[in-house]
Amino acid sequence: MSTVGILGGTGPAGRGVAARMASAGYEVVLGSRDAARAQATADAMAPPSVGSLRGGTNEEAANCELVVVATPFDSAVATVSALRAALAGKVVISMVNALAREGKELVALYPPRGSMAAQIAFALPESTIVGAFHHLPASLMEDLDSDLEADVVIFADDADARSSVATMVSTLPGLNGVVAGSMSLASAVEAFTAVCISINIRHKVHSYVRLAGLQH
Ligand SMILES: NC(=O)c1ccc[n+]([C@@H]2O[C@H](COP(=O)([O-])OP(=O)(O)OC[C@H]3O[C@@H](n4cnc5c(N)ncnc54)[C@H](OP(=O)(O)O)[C@@H]3O)[C@@H](O)[C@H]2O)c1
Repeated sequence: MSTVGILGGTGPAGRGVAARMASAGYEVVLGSRDAARAQATADAMAPPSVGSLRGGTNEEAANCELVVVATPFDSAVATVSALRAALAGKVVISMVNALAREGKELVALYPPRGSMAAQIAFALPESTIVGAFHHLPASLMEDLDSDLEADVVIFADDADARSSVATMVSTLPGLNGVVAGSMSLASAVEAFTAVCISINIRHKVHSYVRLAGLQH
């Protein structure tokens, strides 16, 4: 697959994934509720050396071969539900975390189905949902000159989909895809993001997950 669409791609999280994917040769569409804003966002980003990066509507992003959901948690289900037909039969990556800020800390919220990935899977029964990119600091992702060397925890019930997403992630600069297992891990993976961001706030850093003991 060569085209990647990012729903809510104008935010820091979507831009970070877009920058890494375009630099690996993918044709990336930053999706938005406002195509002009998305194009302005794409124009303001560093131009990729090999792939391509352009703005468009969320509908255009959903028409790509691989789709990433990068909206705030409280708009993710409404956003994907409106695109259900375009997303049918595709792998849809959720990087969505349900979090709330309390002072210097982030706290994990628990959606009715336990995780945002499960909420999205319920809204998209004809799609294959894979969780990835939850713990990555957006600013380091978008800065291709940063020394990011992160493990990306990946989960899905579909073994082929999680394996192919892990392989794809490992082709992105600075990232190593690690299959953790099934959708049953989604709640723990998403909630751990609250730990990551709380550490970053408290220690004024952009830390990320690097798992010891893996062969990198
Ligand atoms: N920031 C990070 O470091 C990071 C890292 C990993 C995962 N994540 C996750 O990635 C997701 C996005 O994070 P973010 O920081 O990029 O969020 P964000 O900036 O608040 O939102 C991303 C984009 O979503 C769209 N959006 C906002 N409200 C919307 C609504 N009501 N309906 C539909 N679209 C809406 C906006 O695009 P348009 O206005 O152009 O439509 C916005 O630019 C979150 O779920 C977050 O937990 C974030």
